[in-house]
Amino acid sequence: MRLDEQTRPDFPILQRIVNGRPLVYFDSGASSQKPRAVIEAMSQYYERSHANVHRSIHTLGEEATELYELARDAVQRFIGAASREEVIFTRGTTDGLGLIAETIGRTLAKGDEIVVTELEHHSNLIPWQLVARDRGAALKAVPILPDGTVDLAALDRLLTPRTRVVAFAHVSNVLGTILPVTEIVRRARTVNAITVVDGAQAAPHLRLDMSALECDFYVFSAHKMLGPTGIGVMYGRRAVLDSLEPGRGGSEMIKEVWIDHAQWNDLPWRFEPGTPPIAEAVGLTAAIEYLEKLGMDRVAEHERALTRQTLEGLARIPGVTLYGPPTAERGAVVSFTVQGLHPHDVAALLDAEGIAVRAGHHCAMPLMRRLGVVGTSRATFSVFNSPDEVSLFLATVAGLHSAL
Ligand code: ALA
Repeated sequence: MRLDEQTRPDFPILQRIVNGRPLVYFDSGASSQKPRAVIEAMSQYYERSHANVHRSIHTLGEEATELYELARDAVQRFIGAASREEVIFTRGTTDGLGLIAETIGRTLAKGDEIVVTELEHHSNLIPWQLVARDRGAALKAVPILPDGTVDLAALDRLLTPRTRVVAFAHVSNVLGTILPVTEIVRRARTVNAITVVDGAQAAPHLRLDMSALECDFYVFSAHKMLGPTGIGVMYGRRAVLDSLEPGRGGSEMIKEVWIDHAQWNDLPWRFEPGTPPIAEAVGLTAAIEYLEKLGMDRVAEHERALTRQTLEGLARIPGVTLYGPPTAERGAVVSFTVQGLHPHDVAALLDAEGIAVRAGHHCAMPLMRRLGVVGTSRATFSVFNSPDEVSLFLATVAGLHSAL
């Protein structure tokens, strides 16, 4: 059975009729839909077990703590982290990247250098801009090549003994480019730079193995991988986490506090101030278990087939321009423009047919500038999308001019 045939009944929202048509949801890159298993796990948690974690010794407090910590084990398994202490829960990718930038930022000195790439989402750019400004550090960007890949020769030229951080996406949220993480990490290591990977668009689609990627930090959100909003993961290599002070204070991140100083808690709690997203952690566990049952290799293959069908179909439509590598060996992302139509108009016309795509600058304005466009329309896929939906989408895009 095809993956979408197996999974579609699990997603209640796919019953929606939008503008008189069955919903075709091609916007999982912004936020994926949720299977019943995730929705029910969270409801059941609230109905039976909710309390705060790590504080209360009563039964519900202990149940909630156990469920919250089970999510950490699920994440450790899902991403191949060496230990559960390396899995820190955040509010999402943006929160995780901000936390890393603030934390590392404190250790930077005037003249230090931070390297990003030209295709970064603003979430992996703005925090570094702020840090660079506050610490007197320099921020440099690795350019992209015309095929949407990153110019590794340029990276080599940008790396210097002053490079402290190399921060980059695993998968571009606009181009779908899969960046060669291990290759970039290897190069960054030659100057002892810390590597920070934005995995928001990769975690939902690719099998992850931190021991193979060897980066220092890897960050992603649950809500793009069938889980709830409001929780994300910041993986940090233990040796690096051990060397850093916490970025933010309060609640579980301390052992002992005096008026003028404090003693930090052990990992991972040292980096988890405040009441964490508990129900969301329960939902994330359910999402991971759901994906694990499907098998990430099967997920990747299914989405690759949809991406290939979309790329080949759009390439045959006159007036359509495609962006990113000319291959389906990319994330489940296809950005395109239609001659004579603003990307927002394309999205609105598709929405009138029940097809949801994202349009705009996709929080990647420097990349838009490099591509010479104000924005693109973007289709992104998940486990529940079908080849029939792609065919409908292609026919609708082909008919856009006549629909005007
Ligand atoms: N970062 C998300 C996207 O690219 C919201 O759509």
